[in-house]
Amino acid sequence: MGLRSRLFALTYNRLMASGEKAGLAEIRAKLLARACGDVLEVGAGTGLNLTHYAGEVNTVTVTEPDTSMLRRLERAGGRTASPPTILRAPAEDLPFEDATFDTVVSTLVLCGVDDQPRAVREIRRVLKPGGRLLFVEHVRSDDAAAARRQDRINWLNRLLVGCDCNRPTLETLERGGFGVDDIVHGELPKSPSFVRRRGAKLVRANGIDIAYTEAGDGPPLILLHGALASTGPVWAGSPVAFVDHMHTLGKHFRVIAPDTRGSGATVHPGGPATFDVLADDVAALTEALQLDRPMIAGFSEGGATATYLALRHPGIVRALVNYAGFDIFDPEAMAHQGVRPMFGGSPDAATADPDAAERTFQSIPPMAATFATMKADYDDAQGDGHWRTYLGLFFDRFCTVEAACAAYRTLPAGELGIVPGTGHEITTQIIDAMTAFLIRHSPTA
Ligand SMILES: C[S@@+](CC[C@H](N)C(=O)[O-])C[C@H]1O[C@@H](n2cnc3c(N)ncnc32)[C@H](O)[C@@H]1O
Repeated sequence: MGLRSRLFALTYNRLMASGEKAGLAEIRAKLLARACGDVLEVGAGTGLNLTHYAGEVNTVTVTEPDTSMLRRLERAGGRTASPPTILRAPAEDLPFEDATFDTVVSTLVLCGVDDQPRAVREIRRVLKPGGRLLFVEHVRSDDAAAARRQDRINWLNRLLVGCDCNRPTLETLERGGFGVDDIVHGELPKSPSFVRRRGAKLVRANGIDIAYTEAGDGPPLILLHGALASTGPVWAGSPVAFVDHMHTLGKHFRVIAPDTRGSGATVHPGGPATFDVLADDVAALTEALQLDRPMIAGFSEGGATATYLALRHPGIVRALVNYAGFDIFDPEAMAHQGVRPMFGGSPDAATADPDAAERTFQSIPPMAATFATMKADYDDAQGDGHWRTYLGLFFDRFCTVEAACAAYRTLPAGELGIVPGTGHEITTQIIDAMTAFLIRHSPTA
């Protein structure tokens, strides 16, 4: 047992304390609330997860190869109401029969195991059919420049904390036979910047600095978020944002996801932000990034902007997905009547009233959380009270099946997709349908 591993075990809880306080403990609690049945945790360290097992869990078995960690783990295990079974073992060589566990847990472990593919194979082997791996791992960034920075700095990460900051863990899991059914990308609280997810890049286009994030490789796809949301990391886990789907879409396309002006981190310098202006922003972004006839996919407000773009600049767009943002083109659409009371405070309001909008959203529980995220996101990127400016520019709409059919009938070569039982939100089913359509229309098809 080396001095470094003794030191790491000795200082681990202190090293982690500020991150745990800043949100990691909450991430652990949320993740482990999903553990059930017979649970195995690999690389359990000092046992920071042990207090989070409850509810549906029958038994907890924890493994850890490092003897210094193991001593602390035994002490932590002894303090819990139902002490776990503790064994010394590396994740690459688990001393259990095939199909023993309902849940395997790995938090901040797969970045440091000696042989990641082998550890993943072992985890899969000991899981029962239908069992689940729950994990929190820091990984290689989707953003090529940030990933290169991680590569350059990895020697320092190895020296300080004995793990790699740049492993493509999700890909290893998928190659190891795991289907990923739920993933949240975000920042590890209080981690060094080279471990964190990248921030937005800026590109000058149409007279403003447009903030955008990027993922993957392949034919270009511009992804336009809906109103209130953005592509900032704070939207991880939100059903109205694309953030959690960037990785999936990035497997097929070079995904470029801008924040529309006034939203997220793209500053609107003043004046009306009409759909014509928003569409021209995307056209200018396409030119500034030298994208060759990109495909465009937008949700809600982003779908409307994508359609305006195709109408104003028909040569630019290769294929277009307007998901839940088409009713604006129907003068009879219900949204036209809903917008004034919702954002202006009365049926005949002619200007936005952010206070009235806030009161309305606070009274609808799922919208209250979205509203709070929007305020935090916009104000964090653009300054206190920016969300009010944004609402002043905002226009909302909701789409019906009838409006979808009417819009579809106007298209000479369109396709119509209806996903029953889906609200105004982005689901994996929507992303799958969108991906299949875009692949059919991509330049390589
Ligand atoms: C960053 S700590 C994480 C500890 C704990 N899982 C947590 O979330 O706090 C990494 C842990 O992985 C353990 N580890 C290193 N190599 C391993 C391997 N091959 N198999 C399993 N665990 C390993 C280390 O000893 C250490 O306890």
